[in-house]
Amino acid sequence: MSTSLIETKGVSKIFGAFTAVDKVDFAIEENDAVGIIGPNGAGKTTFINILTGNFIPEEGRIFYMGKDITDVRIEKRIEMGIFRTFQLVHVFDNVSVYENLALSYYRKEENRSVPLNMFLVNFLKKKDIRRKVEEALELFHLEKKMDDIVGNLSLGNQKKLEIAMAWIADPAIFILDEPFAGISDHEIDDILVILKKLHHKKTIIIVEHKLSKLTEIVDTLCVMHEGQVIASGPCEETLNNPEVRKSYWKIED
Ligand SMILES: Nc1ncnc2c1ncn2[C@@H]1O[C@H](COP(=O)(O)OP(=O)(O)OP(=O)(O)O)[C@@H](O)[C@H]1O
Ligand SMILES: [Mg+2]
Repeated sequence: MSTSLIETKGVSKIFGAFTAVDKVDFAIEENDAVGIIGPNGAGKTTFINILTGNFIPEEGRIFYMGKDITDVRIEKRIEMGIFRTFQLVHVFDNVSVYENLALSYYRKEENRSVPLNMFLVNFLKKKDIRRKVEEALELFHLEKKMDDIVGNLSLGNQKKLEIAMAWIADPAIFILDEPFAGISDHEIDDILVILKKLHHKKTIIIVEHKLSKLTEIVDTLCVMHEGQVIASGPCEETLNNPEVRKSYWKIED
């Protein structure tokens, strides 16, 4: 029996005549950090969508803590602790940073969602929520932004908030889709400091193009090309793999 936290065996996602994810085997152990790289259109986001339940694969199976979750719906997978952030951020941009964090915590704790207005009136100042939100604000260096309306934040701070909203719900697994895309080096370094604090304390899958930043926070790389995993393993070894040199780096040996 496998000890992987989440594992796929031969999963494929087919759009019409096009196979976006092609028989992918993948596994991550608890508290490891794995980076998924590959050119645009390689199938990285589609693969993540299979893990989270946004897409049901046409073939293959997904196992979580050894249990087959292939047919488990997205909401149930979130309840089980499989959380993701998006390539394009998903936050409530017309309320504050504090309110977004409080809402995310409340949803997880109470295991239900409430209309935003009702939440803000009834639950926002509850002591346990406040304590947890303050902890998140500190860990994610967002204290000074707590009252800012999210729509007015920089993209870097919005991405940070999205990760903080996942963290506050204490997931078993974080799946981050391009956390560094479109933000400044300074903002990337700020997020890196936070992710380093979570290293080996949380299970993290990160899809990212910025390889030099990614390898600062992952142990293992998984390289996708045309829907397939062409190599995976320790970062340096994987980047020197002959197939990766050819397909990813376009180096003809
Ligand atoms: N819902 C969909 N319907 C049809 N084709 C899709 C759909 N989603 C993705 N694709 C196609 O599947 C392929 C893989 O897309 P995907 O978004 O997974 O790539 P990616 O590796 O995340 O790329 P990027 O680095 O640009 O984000 C692309 O050719 C894309 O056009
Ligand atoms: Mg993508």
